[in-house]
Amino acid sequence: MSERIVILTGAGISAESGLGTFRDAGGLWAQYDLEEVATPEGFARDPAKVHAFYNARRENCRAAAPNAAHHAIARLQAAHPAAVTLITQNIDDLFARAGAEALHMHGELMRALCHSCAARWPAPERMAPEGACPQCGARATRPDVVWFGEMPYHLDEILAALGAADRFVAIGTSGAVQPAGSFVQEAAAAGARTLELNLEPSEATPLFDEARHGPATALVPDWVEAVLAG
Ligand code: APR
Repeated sequence: MSERIVILTGAGISAESGLGTFRDAGGLWAQYDLEEVATPEGFARDPAKVHAFYNARRENCRAAAPNAAHHAIARLQAAHPAAVTLITQNIDDLFARAGAEALHMHGELMRALCHSCAARWPAPERMAPEGACPQCGARATRPDVVWFGEMPYHLDEILAALGAADRFVAIGTSGAVQPAGSFVQEAAAAGARTLELNLEPSEATPLFDEARHGPATALVPDWVEAVLAG
């Protein structure tokens, strides 16, 4: 396949694995105040509350399994590794467990970071403020996730891929958060054909050449099979 495909996923692709989305009814931001659990200021104010939030999400993630959408994307990437760039806003490890390689632009729930020496290591099941960095010993550990107001990871690689894309597909994302919400426009400006696969129309739907609505476990395998057959 000569076409270069860039895929952007959001919480919706993991919804059918039982992991909550953020902005759907009853979503995470309806249950928690994101200012308290997903900002550096919230972490500085109450690190124990933030660790408890991510400990609970780590537990849910361990209990979850990749679904048919994760596996379909892994199949596509395995068939055409050089042609497929997979970007995810999700911090769960379901793509890795499905055998896919994703650029985690918002970091990874299963990794820990030392905010003193910047060391990274696999996160223990439960993290706490008294946890010590295995590298420098400082009690300065945090989840290796990107909070609001922090710089997303892999942006150079992402922008290069968007600038060379022939197709851009957004799956299970509301497009509500930047910079990911504008990736469709970056890709379109580079001449890519753009497709949204989402449970329902999102605020970004009008920006796409085509939009298909339904559950990711139905839409994504069908789309991947069509690309592989193409
Ligand atoms: N199949 C496909 N799409 C789904 C499904 C499903 N089964 N269930 C929900 N969706 C769609 C919703 O319609 C919604 O458009 O997934 C989208 C989820 O949107 P959000 O909850 O806003 O999640 P996301 O787009 O990933 O949020 C982006 O915001 O809070 C930050 O860092 C957080 O990475 C997150 C970012």
